[in-house]
Formats: sequence, C-alpha cells, structure tokens
Amino acid sequence: VRDDRVSLVEMGPRDGLQNEANTLSLVQRLELIQRLAESGLQRIEVGAFVSPKKVPQMADSAALFAALPRKGQTRYGALVPNLQGLQAAIAARADEIGLFTACSDGFTRANIGISVEESLVRFAPLVQEARQLGIKVRGYLSTVIACPFDGPTRPKRVAAMAERLLDLGCHEISLGDTIGVGTPGTVAPMLDAVLHEIPAGRLAVHFHDTYGQGLANLLPALERGIRTIDCSVAGLGGCPYAPGASGNVASEEVVYLLHGLGMSTGVDLDKLAATGQWVSERLGRPNGSRVGQALHAN
Ligand code: HMG
Ligand code: MG
Repeated sequence: VRDDRVSLVEMGPRDGLQNEANTLSLVQRLELIQRLAESGLQRIEVGAFVSPKKVPQMADSAALFAALPRKGQTRYGALVPNLQGLQAAIAARADEIGLFTACSDGFTRANIGISVEESLVRFAPLVQEARQLGIKVRGYLSTVIACPFDGPTRPKRVAAMAERLLDLGCHEISLGDTIGVGTPGTVAPMLDAVLHEIPAGRLAVHFHDTYGQGLANLLPALERGIRTIDCSVAGLGGCPYAPGASGNVASEEVVYLLHGLGMSTGVDLDKLAATGQWVSERLGRPNGSRVGQALHAN
C-alpha cells in the first residue's frame, strides 16, 4: 500500500439520503450510485437494512442492490442492525456489511433500541456468520467525541470500544463524530488513544460537518497514518437519531484537499462534482459542497 494513497468510502447513498427530507426514487438512487462508481469511488455504502418505520428513506434497499452494476471493482456495502438485516444483506449479495454501535448508551438506545453492551452481544454471532460467507464486516463506532444525550466521550472509552469491535472480527473500525462537534483539539487526543491500541491501517474516520470542522479534523487523522476516509457527495445527510447533525464532510472537499496535498484517491473530481450538483438538484436543495459550488458557479 502506497502511503500517499487514500481510500474513500462514499456515504452519500446511505448516511446522506437517510436524512434528506426529500426521497429519491429507486431509479434516481441507482443512477447516483452508478455515477459515483464511474467517478472512481471503489467503496460505496448503498443502503441500509433497517426498520423502514424508523428510516423510510432506506426502504427498497434490497431492490437497489438487485439492480446494481457489478462489472467494475467497486465494493458495495450495506448497514445492518440485527440478524434480520444481515439476512437481507446476504440475500442482496452485499460485498460488505457495516454493524453499528456507539461509545454511549444514550445514542445507542435512541438509534437501535438497546444498550452498548447488548449491541456487542448481538453482533458477535453476526460477525461470524458474515465472515464465514466471505462478507467483510466494518464496525461503526459512533459518538467518539460526544453524545447528543450523554455528553463528552473520554478518549480511553473510544479506544476500549474500538478494540472490542476489532476483537469481534471487524476488519475495520470507522470512528464516527456523529454530531460533528469535534475540532483537531479533541480529535487528536481521541486518535492518539485509539492508535495506542489499534494500527492505523484498521481505522477509518467518519466526520460529520455540523460545525464546519470536518476537513480540519482530517488533518490529524492523515498525520497519524489513517488512510480511509468516509465522506458524502455534496455533503448530503445527517443522522435521524442525532438531533441537529448534518452530513458527512463532502466528498468533493476531501478529494480536493487530498489532491492538493499530493495524495491520490483514484477519483475524478470533475465527474464527482457533477454528480454532487446533479443529486442536489434532484433533492431540491443547495449543493452542500463548497468545491462543488465553485466548480458549478456558472
Ligand atoms: P425494534 O423495534 O427494537 O425491533 O427496532 P424489533 O426486533 O422489535 O422489530 C420491530 C419491527 O421492525 C418488526 O416489524 C420487525 O420486523 C422490523 P413489525 O412486526 O412491527 O412490522 N425489523 C426490521 N425491518 C427491516 N429490517 C430490519 C429489521 N429489524 C426489525 N433489519 C431496529 C430495532 C434495530 C430494527 C431499529 O431500531 C432500527 O432499524 N434502527 C436503525 C436506525 C438507523 O438506521 N439509524 C441510522 C443509521 S446509524 C448512523 O447513521 C450512524 C453512522 O453513520 C455513524 C456515525 O455517524 O456516527 C453509522
Ligand atoms: Mg454517520
């Protein structure tokens, strides 16, 4: 692995669309994913097999998976909360699943209706079953800086939780600043605590941009050798169970920053930005990426 190569995990179709007021049609969701893949993104989170009563925007994820083009190298992921979700993801031929828990009970209860400890008990057999079928398992760890219900999270708590998810058999831990309140001042000590226990190659960062710190927070992660970044085209999204949260750091911004640093992503920025503009228009909302706005100024 070249040290200047960064792998982006595109969140727009899942974390993005799950919190948009307007819902895209199945055909539009499919076009979004095809365009993202054609821009060079090799990991795309397509949808979620969660309760459609809780997140109606992710209903029909099975039909979406069934229609995906499978010719290129792109890996398609699905978010999964329980056994029912895993079975749906297996039937959909997801390349990867993402299980999700948090550092705090308040958010975990609001999000999946159980405590953190109960979530780990639930996940253990799911990881084993997925791995036996050759499906990679990503572990999302939310509230790594603070919880909207329980307040600030201690860095040691994040490290201990990340280690437990890795011990369950997750290949990668995505560290989520769910409500986007972190700054490099809080992100750096959190990363140091986690990196004390876990190598950088097993970590991803998942920054929401609520306070406009997402891009700044990538710098301490890059400096510490983390090379997997979650991002969302046009800055789409948020989280329905984290009041006030906004979308992930915009993919266009991340690509522009990394290329400016002389790092490579394999992504064609013009194609990506055109997709961001296209999806913003379909959703009837302003383009949430500054880079996207600049490239589409006329
Ligand atoms: P529950 O109500 O406790 O579950 O929900 P239940 O087992 O009692 O079932 C209740 C109903 O849900 C039943 O249907 C089940 O069939 C159905 P009914 O009999 O009432 O008609 N159900 C399902 N349907 C579809 N797919 C499933 C499924 N499971 C049960 N997998 C549950 C528990 C976990 C299902 C629910 O709380 C849920 O779906 N939660 C997901 C919430 C969510 O998607 N949140 C957003 C994603 S997390 C996030 O964005 C954070 C992240 O980005 C990282 C970060 O930013 O920090 C990852
Ligand atoms: Mg998120």
